[in-house]
Amino acid sequence: MDTATVGQSFAHDSAAHHVDGKASFIDDMPEPRNLLHAHLITSPWAHARLTGLDLAPCLTVPGVVAVAAAADIPGLNDIGAILKGEPLFPTETLDYVGHPVAAVAALSPAAARAGAALAKIVGTPLPPVFDIRTALEREDYVCPPMTMLRGDVDKALAAAPLRLSGETEIGGQDHFYLETHIALALPADGGGLHIFSSTQHPSEVQHLVARLLGMPQSAVTVEVRRLGGGFGGKESQATLIAGVAALLCRKTGRPVKLRLDRDDDMTVTGKRHSFLLRWDVGFDKDGRVEAVDMLLAAGSGWSTDLTPGVVSRALSHADNAYFYPAARIRGLSCRTNHQSNTAFRGFGAPQGMIAAEAMMDDIAHHLRLDPLAVRKINFYGPGRDITPYHQTVEHFRLPAMLAEMEEKADLAKRRVAVDSFNAGSPIIKKGFAVAPVKFGVSFNNPAMNQAGALVMAYTDGSVLVNHGGIEMGQGLYTKIAQVTAEVFEIPLNQIRVSSTRTDKVPNTSPTAASSGADLNGMAAQQAAEIIRGRMAEVAARKFGVPLEDVQFKNGEIRSGNYHISFAELAELCHLQRVSLSANGFYRTPKIHFDKETMTGRPFFYFAHGLAAAEVAIDTLTGEWKCLRVDILHDVGRSLNPAIDRGQIEGAFLQGLGWLTMEELVWDKDGRLLTHAPSTYKIPTARDLPADFRVELLANADNPEASVYRSKAVGEPPLMLAVSVWLALRDAVASMAPPGARATLDAPATPERILAAVEAARSGVR
Ligand code: MTE
Ligand code: MOS
Repeated sequence: MDTATVGQSFAHDSAAHHVDGKASFIDDMPEPRNLLHAHLITSPWAHARLTGLDLAPCLTVPGVVAVAAAADIPGLNDIGAILKGEPLFPTETLDYVGHPVAAVAALSPAAARAGAALAKIVGTPLPPVFDIRTALEREDYVCPPMTMLRGDVDKALAAAPLRLSGETEIGGQDHFYLETHIALALPADGGGLHIFSSTQHPSEVQHLVARLLGMPQSAVTVEVRRLGGGFGGKESQATLIAGVAALLCRKTGRPVKLRLDRDDDMTVTGKRHSFLLRWDVGFDKDGRVEAVDMLLAAGSGWSTDLTPGVVSRALSHADNAYFYPAARIRGLSCRTNHQSNTAFRGFGAPQGMIAAEAMMDDIAHHLRLDPLAVRKINFYGPGRDITPYHQTVEHFRLPAMLAEMEEKADLAKRRVAVDSFNAGSPIIKKGFAVAPVKFGVSFNNPAMNQAGALVMAYTDGSVLVNHGGIEMGQGLYTKIAQVTAEVFEIPLNQIRVSSTRTDKVPNTSPTAASSGADLNGMAAQQAAEIIRGRMAEVAARKFGVPLEDVQFKNGEIRSGNYHISFAELAELCHLQRVSLSANGFYRTPKIHFDKETMTGRPFFYFAHGLAAAEVAIDTLTGEWKCLRVDILHDVGRSLNPAIDRGQIEGAFLQGLGWLTMEELVWDKDGRLLTHAPSTYKIPTARDLPADFRVELLANADNPEASVYRSKAVGEPPLMLAVSVWLALRDAVASMAPPGARATLDAPATPERILAAVEAARSGVR
């Protein structure tokens, strides 16, 4: 029996039960006696002064038991995640269509909905703002402007032999997790609350619900076993749902469940930030960048939420894989009367990278060079390794990865083949692009890079692990179990990971920034090592050997001819009154970041990826096909190659959906029209490229001391899909006169592709 578990492709711990239905989500839990169902009352206006709210009519509906609005909040009416000033229920203005203003609790979901429909909201409409450009003109931002600066940009730009400027617009994206937002709040002993919440951040739900209800944090427990997907959408926004359920539970003394249906979820909750990207670049005749001046303007929606973090990450990824000798990158967080945009896989980095990648292509087209050659010449390298935030790029793997891919995927030959195909094909045009990804791993805010775990061994040798991370389908629990099994050298089926609870591990960070396994894995490893150390001492005494001779291997503890099973040793520890429970705590080393100057070392290390995409467009209809995609991705020494591969494939497809088909449309009054799968098109498995080749970089131990030398994988591969968007742009550019560029905003729907083809044909820009 070999019990080495790290690096093995174990199945996701709930894989079978996701299929047979036994993996329980909050809405699957047996409903408690006296349960009430809640429904939100929401703003019909995009922007209005709130002058009155009459909820009495709601109570006339049979089955309606209670209503709640701002006045019912006993504590502080504020659920701001980063900045204060975001009320759970507004008292002065309504800021988007769908803005929750009150809620109803009733015996059934239908009664709650019927009751909510009778609420009388009185308001005076105010002029709304729906687009980034208008917000820019009004200089209306949800947080202060940010600037990342290195070198004398104006001087370097003026001195550069060549100059080019460009602009592109990138749309938002709905998270479209399978499980919509939900919370179940239960009264607990001694006036406490127990909340089951679909949140990526149970500690924040706990802390903000306590503040909302004027309770000590110790009286509120938040529990999460699994999410049916989060993708960032449940990082901050779950607090609203849990807060409403908790408020109604507090008011009625009864359990309350609030579950949003798909339309309400899409109408109420925030999405990926749309961005307007502008760049002005100075470069030489070989395409080498000398200076960059960029503006990244985010469509933030009505409130701050996580926008400062998202924009900060966008700025710190607007270099992507390229060295800018001088750079000024400005970030503006534009206020609009839409849903409050929030975390979404990549957290602003994808939008920042797109600015860099579009700029590289424009330089190449302008100089009539191969875009890949321009990318290569601008890669970070020796003596060219300082980022715009002044961190030195170490262990940069992309040049070597590119060399590997050039060979395996025949990049040079295929570039030529695509160009010659286009020369002979007037209607169907192919496009080809290679895009690198360099993604900084760690929360930009150093304080968030910490985690705790609680490991317990029982006398039968079974082990229970608790940690601060959330399982949302990404396989975190499986990876943590593998790490723990590896420490004890026991089979994986001896380890159980139980639901994440704020009363087991306190003050945790959200499971986000792809750092779930990095942080919680380290904490679990530490806790397990503490217990193993104590067990080893007991074994050494029993065997009468020095401590260093005691070995854990294959479910046993041995030294020479002596051996004892893990279970027997656990029992022995108990008899000898040795504790089999321990806490682990981890904080990421080496990192620091000054928010004011936007300099430091925000990232412990970088994850790298490379994708080559080949597409074909029909220039008469704008329809397109993805012919082939090659991916080479750096996950360090993989904790679980099967799960990592799943993350790469899923992230790529999610990115492809964002950039080519998912389109959010609001009407002129600010109503979201695309609030269901009937109108909002997400990709399916059938949208995977016909020829899809995914490889994990081999022999790729993380040079930094991460958990078993692995690298984070959750978000970085989403940005591999930028290659597809670039390939579409490349196909469009083949229609333009030599030396001219193509512009193509995202999502690159067939309509947009067709419009871009028309523009390219007529030689515009
Ligand atoms: N994978 C699945 N199946 N479901 C998800 O919700 N979220 C992504 C990514 N992969 C997600 C996912 C996001 S946004 C992040 S930040 C990471 O997983 C979080 O988990 P990790 O830190 O454990 O990788
Ligand atoms: Mo992921 S966007 O950091 O939850």
